Amino acid sequence: MSLPEFIDESVAYLKEQDIPENPEAAVILGSGLGSFGKSISDPLFINYEDIPHFPSTSVKGHDGRLISGTVNGKNIIAFSGRFHHYEGYDFEETAIPVYIAKALGVNKLIISNAAGAINTDFEVGDLMVIDSVMRHNKSISPMGYPQHRYNHYPLADKARKLAAGLGLAVQRGTYIYVTGPNYESKAEIRAFRKMGADAVGMSTAPELFEAARLRLKSVAISLISNMASGVTRDKLDHEEVKIAAESRKEDFAKLVSKLILEL
Ligand code: HPA
Repeated sequence: MSLPEFIDESVAYLKEQDIPENPEAAVILGSGLGSFGKSISDPLFINYEDIPHFPSTSVKGHDGRLISGTVNGKNIIAFSGRFHHYEGYDFEETAIPVYIAKALGVNKLIISNAAGAINTDFEVGDLMVIDSVMRHNKSISPMGYPQHRYNHYPLADKARKLAAGLGLAVQRGTYIYVTGPNYESKAEIRAFRKMGADAVGMSTAPELFEAARLRLKSVAISLISNMASGVTRDKLDHEEVKIAAESRKEDFAKLVSKLILEL
């Protein structure tokens, strides 16, 4: 399988905008984590709506632009805003940033997301390096190929050690992918816990599967924005995602900068 054909035109447009060739890394910024964009030096902003074939994002807390620039002197691109299945995109479309990164010659990919904690030892504001992914329903087979081959993230441990070396509180765990858009019931969360999941979210799995298939070195990090449904009595809403992200944005930026240099 190769990259979708329409990617050629998106990439041709980006190259015309003077994006440096073969950026060291690409970063996909999850809910509330767009402020990482401010750590990018000499930024060039390209709105998603100007890129041929690019979908637009509609989720609060996500903006919709690609940022090209440098971090620690390395050329990188960042996708500030991503695409979710619940917005009406098919699984392949939700992985568009991965295809773009691959076509631009990137070989390190750092994916972030906001997730709800299922593991009761976790706290809001924790970072979790994802070391495995499961789907709540295996018929959600994003691109129709055997995922077991691509469900292995050897860089997770390295990322966790780099985070610990920076003195950051960081967990490591299994992410369960749900399609949303609604939050889960507390019975579902109890079941997910028994299945071995530590955190739940509505993104990242299609991107990680595609990145692994395309042999990009990738690491995914969840910011625990809330305890999942039924874990506490708190009501779930999108506001807390922003608050949790705000509280950890500097640590997150430090970790991403380190990963760009050392993965
Ligand atoms: N469930 C699903 N997705 C999420 C959650 C959650 O609790 N928090 C952030 N994304």
